[in-house]
Amino acid sequence: MTWDPRGKVAVVTGASSGIGDATVRRLAGVGMVVYAAARRTDRLEALAAELPGVVPHTADVTDQDAVDALAARVRDERGVCHALVNNAGIGGGVFNGRDDLDDALRTLDVNLGGVVRCMAAFADLLEAGAPSRVVNVASVAGKLGIGPAAYAASKFGVVGFSEALALSWRSRGITVCQLNPGYIETEGFTQAQIKRTPLGRLVGQPDIVADAVADVLASGRTERTVPTFYRAFVTLRHLAPPVYTAIARRMARSGGTRD
Ligand SMILES: NC(=O)c1ccc[n+]([C@@H]2O[C@H](COP(=O)([O-])OP(=O)(O)OC[C@H]3O[C@@H](n4cnc5c(N)ncnc54)[C@H](OP(=O)(O)O)[C@@H]3O)[C@@H](O)[C@H]2O)c1
Repeated sequence: MTWDPRGKVAVVTGASSGIGDATVRRLAGVGMVVYAAARRTDRLEALAAELPGVVPHTADVTDQDAVDALAARVRDERGVCHALVNNAGIGGGVFNGRDDLDDALRTLDVNLGGVVRCMAAFADLLEAGAPSRVVNVASVAGKLGIGPAAYAASKFGVVGFSEALALSWRSRGITVCQLNPGYIETEGFTQAQIKRTPLGRLVGQPDIVADAVADVLASGRTERTVPTFYRAFVTLRHLAPPVYTAIARRMARSGGTRD
């Protein structure tokens, strides 16, 4: 059965920049009603002024009351949610010891806690909208332990949470997808360091992730890596760990996260 996006209700977190902004544009472009959520209200209002069908909503994903208020608004105004794109996230810094504890816990709370909070708040609305979709924007760093440690841990958490719910929520008519982007140039992830290396050629733009979100909504896939060539690294990690480790050490020296 084809999943026609026209007129369906989507919620996108982290909608004020980068991948979230591109995703809102993409989904509004195919006729979805899109609730665009983030903390920077001015950005969301500018997006809504530009695009019909976009509803700005200020919410911090670390605040359960704020997430519940977003769900309550969607319930009041639409009664259902057909697509939830959990995209809000931060990069976090290196983890060397006690001084980095707060940053690490904050990263886990935004990236993993935020996804769990939104899934909890929207579960019944997604069931009401079945067949419905969840797209959790994890990362290749959620498949390979590279980059800042708490960031990788948060994304491994999102991958595990998504994989388990893809199985258990299937019977409710909700497909749950882990979407794993590689290096993408955005405000929060400038990729400035990696762009100064030969690996800079791997850096992509937010549009390719937005296109992948639209594809996942249409297909109901439960896993997607974008660009797809990163899957080779994941396979290598399992089939030839020493070769993978040698490559990962070089990539770790190249950076590839916030700056
Ligand atoms: N760029 C990459 O290379 C890359 C690769 C793999 C995965 N990802 C993932 O893609 C997602 C989007 O990142 P991006 O690259 O597009 O970065 P970005 O441009 O910095 O966007 C991050 C978004 O998250 C929002 N956000 C941050 N903290 C939030 C909070 N507490 N509550 C609500 N919203 C919050 C920000 O909005 P406000 O500040 O307005 O709240 C912003 O809209 C993240 O989950 C990231 O981990 C990125």
